[in-house]
Amino acid sequence: MIPIAQPSMNEEERDAVLEVLASGALAQGPRVKALEETFARFCGTSYAVAIVNGTAALHTALYALDIQEGDEVITTPFTFVATANAILMQQARLVFADITEDDFNLDPLSVAQKITPRTKAILPVDLYGQPYRVQEINALAKQHDAVIVEDACQAIGATYKNKKTGALGDVGVFSLYATKNIMCGEGGMLVTDNKEAAERAKRFRHHGQDENKRYEYGDLGYNYRMTDLAAAIALVQLKKADSLNEKRRANAQRLNEGLSSLPGIITPTVRENNTHVFHQYTIRITPACPVTRDALANHLKSKEIGCGVYYPKPLHLHPHFMRLGFKPGDFPVAERMAQEVLALPVHPGVTQDNIDYIIKTIQAYAR
Ligand SMILES: Cc1ncc(COP(=O)(O)O)c(C=O)c1O
Repeated sequence: MIPIAQPSMNEEERDAVLEVLASGALAQGPRVKALEETFARFCGTSYAVAIVNGTAALHTALYALDIQEGDEVITTPFTFVATANAILMQQARLVFADITEDDFNLDPLSVAQKITPRTKAILPVDLYGQPYRVQEINALAKQHDAVIVEDACQAIGATYKNKKTGALGDVGVFSLYATKNIMCGEGGMLVTDNKEAAERAKRFRHHGQDENKRYEYGDLGYNYRMTDLAAAIALVQLKKADSLNEKRRANAQRLNEGLSSLPGIITPTVRENNTHVFHQYTIRITPACPVTRDALANHLKSKEIGCGVYYPKPLHLHPHFMRLGFKPGDFPVAERMAQEVLALPVHPGVTQDNIDYIIKTIQAYAR
């Protein structure tokens, strides 16, 4: 089977973990601090705060920017559930806007329609590894005095006008989950240029305790700390981020070359001024294709080619969110994309032979 995701690691990560084990200090410590410094440098931000996972980092980001109960936060329904759940964790009001079909990211026109005087934040997602529509969405936020929390969980190392993801809004958030472009099993990171937000984030991850005043609690917080074991792996991975992303880009290019002329199949678009890091390489199987998306997915699996649908149902159609009043038809582009998308293996472990086989298999079945 060619897996849809596979972590890229070797003895460097193993040795880094063994060193931490030998040190006897496994919880948050010097590796976490080193990871934060390296991450901030990588993203070009003044601060980075390590958090136990991406979901907790999103929650922390909303707290850090003082999003409170009843504040409206606009996000996309075509994302991993954590994006929306973080808004609910902060007791804010979840407002969805629709997406555009070329990049699967928030549509600025739809966002503009959802803005009210209570809108305090916009939470765009750099889905599949491509930055959101920065110019339009940031301009909307500025006009309406709202902040931007960038969910860059899938997009470490991608850029908009040479600026790295994470640094595109007020606070950016990454996931270091096992399948991400760089990973440490479970992990997260918050980056920002806002000193106060970084300080608030550090308190929030440690039960509201001020960094320099032990056992003094100024506010509600959680245990959202990262371990030095995880940070040791992430430090090694971060060094490799650019070369791992380069391999994904090269694989995506080869897949584009083999698939873009097939009828009814749409290969990924990279918007002007963006670089894409292809956390997922997602094609669309439109009605003009002679086979359905699900038939193609089943066929690929029968031929030992891993593939995935991210995501089979937009968030607003799940019971958890329908209880908030959302209904079918609310976000037609997101609903259509959920029917059409199919992700193919693109990770650095995918070889040229694998790519040739994937292309040949799809060409033979979908012509
Ligand atoms: C877009 C997006 N947001 C948030 C998350 C949550 O990250 P984590 O799984 O590290 O909690 C993920 C990844 O899983 C994600 O892909």
